[in-house]
Parts: sequence; structure tokens; C-alpha cells
Amino acid sequence: MTHPADDHQASPACEVLRVDDVRKEYQTEGSPVHALAGVSMTVRAGEFVAIMGASGSGKSTLLHLIGGLDAPTSGSIQMEGRDLATMNDRQRTLYRRRRIGIVFQAYNLLPTLSAIENVALPAMLDGLNTTAMQQRAQELLELVDLGHRMQHRPHALSGGEQQRVAIARALMNDPVVVLADEPTGNVDSHHATAIWKLLSRLTRENRCTVIAVTHEAVGAGYADRALVFKDGRVVGEIKPGGEDHAGDLAARYTQLVG
Ligand SMILES: Nc1ncnc2c1ncn2[C@@H]1O[C@H](COP(=O)(O)OP(=O)(O)OP(=O)(O)O)[C@@H](O)[C@H]1O
Ligand SMILES: [Mg+2]
Repeated sequence: MTHPADDHQASPACEVLRVDDVRKEYQTEGSPVHALAGVSMTVRAGEFVAIMGASGSGKSTLLHLIGGLDAPTSGSIQMEGRDLATMNDRQRTLYRRRRIGIVFQAYNLLPTLSAIENVALPAMLDGLNTTAMQQRAQELLELVDLGHRMQHRPHALSGGEQQRVAIARALMNDPVVVLADEPTGNVDSHHATAIWKLLSRLTRENRCTVIAVTHEAVGAGYADRALVFKDGRVVGEIKPGGEDHAGDLAARYTQLVG
């Protein structure tokens, strides 16, 4: 079956995402906030891109726009060769559910559902509630080390555990692109390492594309490159040399935003 969100054209040279001079202004009671002031970037299929930058530099805003949760004030975003602005609401919803996995900074789990129900939700919304889906949700929870918390509701989970449920949920529908907003912001260092390794493995083994916001040089060290944001703009790019180069990466980052 072909889904409306799937009728995209193949993109040139395995490019999965193209962001072209995107600006986002928020109108507030005072002066407008220029959250993004002209961001351009391209991401290839299977790439792992970290996004770094100070608080308020526009990182979450960009992920929300790429996820089709909000529209840019100007500029364009193309995912898999398709301009998000050309999608109607239903197509955008399906695009988000079937092509993208989002890990929100604030997790956004549904409070009335158990951990396993939260993970299975993207498939259930598509009317798929099979044993195989339950099995997959269980495996994903085990992958983030939460096999022992499957029936817990969010209020009965720690912040770090909720964050790991959100990661499992983002992977439920086998996304083409994972957008992760500080996915290890609340987890301990042991689980943080496991999450970075998991995201990195997804790009290498499943050719999934990962775009992850992080403040941690160690996490960004797992990425193929880190884009550094300042005041709504990309001010530089760092090519990490792996985990051992976290120190160098942190120094270069400080230089760029300093
Ligand atoms: N809905 C909104 N209305 C008005 N201003 C907003 C809104 N959302 C974000 N902003 C402003 O836009 C700027 C960018 O916000 P954003 O959430 O993208 O930052 P961020 O880089 O993700 O920061 P953090 O690291 O703290 O999560 C901030 O100055 C913020 O106050
Ligand atoms: Mg943010």
C-alpha cells in the first residue's frame, strides 16, 4: 500500500534533508523573537548530525520545523525531496508518524498510557495493534534497558526513564529520520553512552538519519559532524574524531560560540 506521505521523489545524491535559508520569528507582546535567522543545511541519508549551541540559540525550533510541527516564517524545508510546505495537515501528520521519529526535549509521553503503550502508540495510530507490534514495543523498551518497567505509567517513572521511553517510541515506526532533542539530557552517564551508541548504530546498520541536539561534547563525539548554532544561525561545523576527542570538540565549540 502506498501512503500519501510516501509519494515523494528520490532526492539527489542520497540527500535526505535540505533546509534553505529558514527563518522563524515568534510574535510576542514585546518585540518579535528571531529564533532562527537564516539557517541552511543539508543532511545525507545515514548521517548522524549533532546540533550544539547555547540555550535559546534556536535548536529546538529547528527540530520542530523539520518535524513539521510548525512552519518557518520564510525559507523552505525539503525532506526526501518533498517540500514540507506543500503538504496538507493530514499528509504532514502521516509524514511525522511514518517517516520521522521525534524525541521531544520534554518527552511528551501520554500520562494515561503505560510505558509499552506509549511506545506502541505510533503503530496503534495506524491501526496496527498486532502481537508483532507489541513484541516490537517490548524489544525497544528492552533496548533502552526498561524491560522491567513496561507497565509503569510516566508518573511512576524517573525523568531519565521517561526519556528512554520517548526514545523507544521514536523508533517504533522504523523512521527514516530521528530528530532527538537532548535525548540524554536527563539520563545517567551509563545510559547516555548506551543511547549515543544506539543512535550511532541506527545510522550505520539501518541507514537511518539522526539529527540530535546535545550540549554534551561526549555525545556529539558520536556524530559524523556537529553544527554549532549561535543566535539562530549556524556559526560553524565540527568533525568529531570520536569519543576520545571530546576535549578537542569542547574547545572548538567554545571557540565558535565564544
Ligand atoms: N513559542 C514561542 N514564542 C516566543 N518565543 C519563543 C517560542 N519558542 C521559542 N521561543 C524563543 O526562541 C528562541 C529559541 O528557542 P529554542 O527553544 O529553539 O532554543 P534552544 O536552542 O532549543 O534552547 P535550549 O537549549 O534552552 O533548549 C528563544 O529565545 C526562545 O525564548
Ligand atoms: Mg531546546
